[in-house]
Amino acid sequence: MKKILFVCLGNICRSPVAEASFRKKVEERGLLDKVLIDSAGISAAHSGEFVDHRMVEHAKARGLDLSELRSRKFSEEDMLHFDYIVAMDKSNMKSIRSLDTNDDLENKLSIITQYCSRHSEVEVPDPYIGEGEGFDKVLNILEDATEGFLNSIESELKE
Ligand code: 4NP
Repeated sequence: MKKILFVCLGNICRSPVAEASFRKKVEERGLLDKVLIDSAGISAAHSGEFVDHRMVEHAKARGLDLSELRSRKFSEEDMLHFDYIVAMDKSNMKSIRSLDTNDDLENKLSIITQYCSRHSEVEVPDPYIGEGEGFDKVLNILEDATEGFLNSIESELKE
């Protein structure tokens, strides 16, 4: 059983999409019993809240259901508990590293864009401020990235 945590700033836009998109692909490959999948935010500003309604709508149009997910804050214990911690941008990575006072991170941390095969963005842009075009961009990048991430760890899941 591998434990995978997706992390963004608020846990109300990007990391919930990563969580749901990754879960759907894992399910399609019949590997759901091999993984624990979760997401969290660096900030507690939206803790306990549902996903941003704009993100929920954009995701729904692509068959991803985010309606049940709620924001929670990333914690230092997450660094011990999870096998993979996958950040959405460089700022998230910096924040996670700064919390790693006990050197628990080892090689667990990566940035999700490194798994893209069809997108060259280095970070998943924060869609929170804007008029809406950012939400589809987040979905486009993350559908590519979660596919690549699953390809990269699939053999480990089958061990
Ligand atoms: P997320 O988007 O990190 O993708 O969930 C954001 C949500 C809220 C805020 C920033 C980013 N905020 O500043 O409240």
